[in-house]
Amino acid sequence: MKKLCLLGLLVSLASQVALADTSAAAVQLQEKKAFVDKLLGQMTQDEKIGQLRLISIGPEMPREKIREEIAAGRIGGTFNSRTAPENRPMQDAAMRSRLKIPMFFAYDTIHGNRTIFPIGLGMASSWDMQAIAKVGRTSAIEAAADSLDMTFAPMVDIARDPRWGRTSEGFGEDTYLTSKIGKVMVRSFQGSSPANPDSIMAIVKHFALYGAVEGGRDYNTVDMSLPKMYNDYLPPYRAAIDAGAGGVMVALNSINGVPATSNTWLMNDLLRKEWGFNGVTISDHGAIQELIRHGVARDGREAAKLAIKAGIDMSMNDTLYGEELPGLLKSGEVSQAELDQAVREVLGAKYDMGLFKDPYVRIGKAENDVPDYYADSRLHRDAARDVARRGLVLLENREQTLPLKKSGTIALVGPLADAPIDMMGSWAADGKPVHSVTVREGLRRAIGDKAQLVYAKGSNITGDKAMFDYLNFLNFDAPEIVNDPRPASVLIDEAVKAAQGADVVVAVVGESRGMSHESSSRTTLEIPAVQRDLIKALKATGKPLVLVLMNGRPLSIGWEREQADAILETWFSGTEGGNAIADVLFGDYNPSGKLPITFPRSVGQIPMYYNHMRIGRPFTPGKPGNYTSQYFEEPNGPLYPFGYGLSYTDFSVSPLTLSSKTLKKGDSLQASVKVKNTGKRDGETVVQLYVQDVAASMSRPVKELKNFQKILLKAGEERTVTFRISEDDLKFYNSQLKYAAEAGEFNVQVGLDSESVQQQSFELL
Ligand code: BGC
Repeated sequence: MKKLCLLGLLVSLASQVALADTSAAAVQLQEKKAFVDKLLGQMTQDEKIGQLRLISIGPEMPREKIREEIAAGRIGGTFNSRTAPENRPMQDAAMRSRLKIPMFFAYDTIHGNRTIFPIGLGMASSWDMQAIAKVGRTSAIEAAADSLDMTFAPMVDIARDPRWGRTSEGFGEDTYLTSKIGKVMVRSFQGSSPANPDSIMAIVKHFALYGAVEGGRDYNTVDMSLPKMYNDYLPPYRAAIDAGAGGVMVALNSINGVPATSNTWLMNDLLRKEWGFNGVTISDHGAIQELIRHGVARDGREAAKLAIKAGIDMSMNDTLYGEELPGLLKSGEVSQAELDQAVREVLGAKYDMGLFKDPYVRIGKAENDVPDYYADSRLHRDAARDVARRGLVLLENREQTLPLKKSGTIALVGPLADAPIDMMGSWAADGKPVHSVTVREGLRRAIGDKAQLVYAKGSNITGDKAMFDYLNFLNFDAPEIVNDPRPASVLIDEAVKAAQGADVVVAVVGESRGMSHESSSRTTLEIPAVQRDLIKALKATGKPLVLVLMNGRPLSIGWEREQADAILETWFSGTEGGNAIADVLFGDYNPSGKLPITFPRSVGQIPMYYNHMRIGRPFTPGKPGNYTSQYFEEPNGPLYPFGYGLSYTDFSVSPLTLSSKTLKKGDSLQASVKVKNTGKRDGETVVQLYVQDVAASMSRPVKELKNFQKILLKAGEERTVTFRISEDDLKFYNSQLKYAAEAGEFNVQVGLDSESVQQQSFELL
């Protein structure tokens, strides 16, 4: 009785706290609305238009002129200026403007700000949400300390065509994994509130479906059915928004014929009405102007009109809103209400970032400016090393070639072995190559004087002059790639000589970072020919050959797999990449990364992703034959499946048991396996849960990831891993876009990658 009373009291207290919470949130919202409305009421039309303009601050921009524009209320925010001494004078100018509306300062802090973490694919390969939260939090702390208020991240575009260069920025092909990471990134960027001095506002991008551009060609069109959008491509954006992302960046592509930038359905019906989003929307760079080339606007005036009516609040790198909105408002083609709504959302974002309370919340006081923004002591090297090594994926390890011994002679070769710029990957924010630990440096530090390291470049990134010129034309800290002018054969001979005198050869090969970047789409997924010639020559020495891959997309490395004794996928692993790679190569860290994206055998197989739709005549491995869905010139299926990755230890998975053969709606059941570390080393692995709807109202994927757990098992240890499955895990959008789970049979699969799984089935009643 007493127990019951106590329980009752607790329940009632809990519900009061919950009520208090909601009412506190409601009061805050009211206060924000009242503040914004009042300010809006005081603004002139020109001041309102000024708030919608987001201006890029390049080194060539006339600072004086910009400050005048800001003081006149003609700019709402900037991006690309990134230290307090740069941003303070602009905020001072805003404080001289009539209404003193603060500016915000944004930047592409994607995988680190000054300390660079692995690229998106590398982070995702960790399947480790704590590690990923570390990336977001550290990035926010660094960015905020340097006066930034906002980041254009996370990028949650699902990528199933690795020809697309921006595959590198995202978290792979899977909806569930990407959604989860997107959520973690938003929460860790924003902390408990985007108003905190060490938080930055997250702008999720690129809304929507940018990863599905036709042929992997950047900026191209997307034509997609609504169920595919709703089931596969939209959930990550939704997850980021539900996690509280303050804003959305709108994609450059069109969707079923309508550019995202002029897409009323996308921004008003879906984003604002269906999802209840009330943050700020920002166009991508120059995207409003591009409506003309998309062929939906005759001129700049029409482009501006389409964009604001469709729901673009801020115009990035704006000229058109500034130039055309006054006329459009005068003629009544754009209404006062439409303008006010956009301004409200910009002011609301500034309010949420805490800028009205203190415009200098992140800029700080001049006397506290640091003497050297790029001092090594300001980096978070431990965090970077920790995350980087968690994202490395061991693809092959024959005869336990790895880990290497710290003795004898190691030949280190390859164009990426000593490449500080490439360590950082693309979109490396304010990272400086001079801070990068290359593989050469990492190995040197790891072995000290215990072993000998002999280095030879072995080849250039590419022998193709046009490709070389293209990569160096990209707007990076030039020169992007350095060409060794010696003939390819001389470079190879030097490397072969180094290999012949060594006990083992480590070749660091793959892509330069510019090869996996915006607008860097590829027609092949191969390692460039000069590097393959190097691998061939190294193989011929007969020495054990370890390939360390650096790349921003899956590569088709079927041939390389035959040459190498071990392969470590390192993506672009960041400032501390070289140390992290050395940790894994020498076994100071046992690799635990798993692929977040399928590796096809060849570019001709694309699209190749694990969660493809079921079909009437599937190809069945081991049972080839005519009239099934197959390519006949090479083996079918992926080279490496989604979720795959080895360890220095081995794991076994017991048969799967379900707590029940039936599931009532509203109930849940448990799926359990025993996972055992059967090897001699402690190690982590990722236990993955997939579900397949056996017969539904429409064809459904062969399987879909629904949950996972990353676990650490000591050598010999066995643990039961249990997943809860509920109706929610079985829901999908049907052909009428109704979101529901359909009664019937489901297969459940659990395994350590998407292909080798244990299966059971149950029925949803
Ligand atoms: C990219 C965006 C980026 C923006 C600002 C554009 O080219 O598509 O992802 O946020 O530039 O740098």
